[in-house]
Amino acid sequence: MQSITDDFAKNAEKLAETVKGNTKVTVPSDKKGEFIYHLIENGGYPASRAQAETIFRVSKNTKSISAVLFACHAITNATPKFIIYDSFNGDSLLEKELPFPAIGVIEGDIIKQNKSERRIAMDINQDKIQAIVQQVLSEMNQSAAPKASAPKAAGPIPKTSRAAMLTKLENYEIKEFPIPELGDDDILVKVEGCGVCGTDAHEFKRDPFGLIPVVLGHEGTGEIVKMGKNVKKDSAGKPLAVGDKVVTCMIFKDNPDITMFDLNKQNVGGADVYGLLPDDDIHLNGWFADYIVVRGGSTVFNVSDLDLDSRILIEPCAVLIHAVERAKTTGILRFNSRVVVQGCGPIGLICIAILRTMGIENIVAVDGEDKRLDFAKEMGATGTVNFKNHKGVEELAKGVENAFGGYLADFAFQCTGSPIAHANIYKFIRNGGGLCELGFFINGGDATINPHFDICSKEITTVGSWVYTLRDYATTFDFLKRAKGIGLPIGKLITHKFPLSEINEAHKTNLAMSGLKIAIINE
Ligand SMILES: NC(=O)c1ccc[n+]([C@@H]2O[C@H](COP(=O)([O-])OP(=O)(O)OC[C@H]3O[C@@H](n4cnc5c(N)ncnc54)[C@H](O)[C@@H]3O)[C@@H](O)[C@H]2O)c1
Ligand SMILES: [Zn+2]
Repeated sequence: MQSITDDFAKNAEKLAETVKGNTKVTVPSDKKGEFIYHLIENGGYPASRAQAETIFRVSKNTKSISAVLFACHAITNATPKFIIYDSFNGDSLLEKELPFPAIGVIEGDIIKQNKSERRIAMDINQDKIQAIVQQVLSEMNQSAAPKASAPKAAGPIPKTSRAAMLTKLENYEIKEFPIPELGDDDILVKVEGCGVCGTDAHEFKRDPFGLIPVVLGHEGTGEIVKMGKNVKKDSAGKPLAVGDKVVTCMIFKDNPDITMFDLNKQNVGGADVYGLLPDDDIHLNGWFADYIVVRGGSTVFNVSDLDLDSRILIEPCAVLIHAVERAKTTGILRFNSRVVVQGCGPIGLICIAILRTMGIENIVAVDGEDKRLDFAKEMGATGTVNFKNHKGVEELAKGVENAFGGYLADFAFQCTGSPIAHANIYKFIRNGGGLCELGFFINGGDATINPHFDICSKEITTVGSWVYTLRDYATTFDFLKRAKGIGLPIGKLITHKFPLSEINEAHKTNLAMSGLKIAIINE
């Protein structure tokens, strides 16, 4: 408990800056109004007892900080940095552990007075302060709490939503579609951002899946603004509420009962995902839009505790979580393994970050671009090899060996779509080592290897890895927090951000390969 005795302006400012969780403050009764006033000046909202109770109930029901803040917003019509309420000594909401910044102001010197006297003690002696705190006092007199039903969306939901529709090769058009009525199992999400993926680039250039006209964007995230009445939890069992930030994984139209557990060991190749669906009469099927309609039977995850950049990177990171899980099945990957990661695009760089967060310290990155190799070091690589500086694969393998201080790799991750790179990588691996091949999401052609030298006589254990499971998604959320925790600059993978209106430019930048991850960030 903090005790504030004088200099209220300074103390309120200090408190407003530092308050993270719940704080009880003792203020002499005749100074309470003044103190609350200064707190308001510093971004606090003077919630009545009833309002605070409502917010507490939402927090208890949803256990979601963003839902609570959302409720706070819905009730207060503002976005306060924290709420302030009169906690009355011994009867404090703070004891109920509100999961967001809250300051309960109690009066230390009038404990023995009865309730009405306490209320009188809150009367303010300065006009200005009185006006501001008036609301708190008047609402404290109302016995009925405001409705504690699910918080409503902030601001009205528009009737239509923009969506970037690929109408012909290399041409998106921004179209306006009506936002439909939601079914009982559906969720309406306001899109905040979405990464541009290699698959989008293929669609943009060639439409290999024959989807045109299509709303693309599958690496998206946003905020729930409306939910059908049956929606209560995400696919991992976490409560869902309006205001929560979410990502989607795949859609199981044919078998909506598939659970995380069922898919523990099964990868999701072939399942539908938003952003790669044929167009229908709803149209809002991809994340390159202002809103997306997440239909019942889709997997959806509450990721309110991750920042926007991390949320945009979830999908590509899940690819690597899966690859590392596959690699672990060989039994070769250990803490002290020497690991080579070939290819330092987003996929290889995330691979390095994951190995690093696992505690693997001896990582050599191979690529042809010095800029990418420098970034590999930022992500945790201990050594780098530019293949362009080596003539022939024998010399290149020597380069890798030297980078490990005279040893070949125990394990290798192949993160390019180049058949030559696939053929080369066996030469980097020691006898009895392992390889995870994940670079060929699409068919990139045949590779020539020598079965005797490369696999048989060396006894190499090889695994392939393709997309991810639902479990990998959940692991990814933790990885992103850990990576941030150990200071890896994951967010820097997003090198370019474009508004939705510039989606054609975003794709052209992606094709030019001048950056790493390109993202659409909604205005
Ligand atoms: N397994 C999966 O589920 C999955 C999912 C997504 C992407 N992928 C695949 O992963 C690959 C990498 O994706 P990305 O987004 O990082 O691509 P990217 O094109 O940005 O990166 C590839 C990197 O490999 C480097 N490279 C090319 N030839 C090389 C060689 N011979 N030796 C060493 N480095 C070489 C390039 O310089 C580039 O930096 C792609 O081919 C993609 O299809 C697989
Ligand atoms: Zn993708």
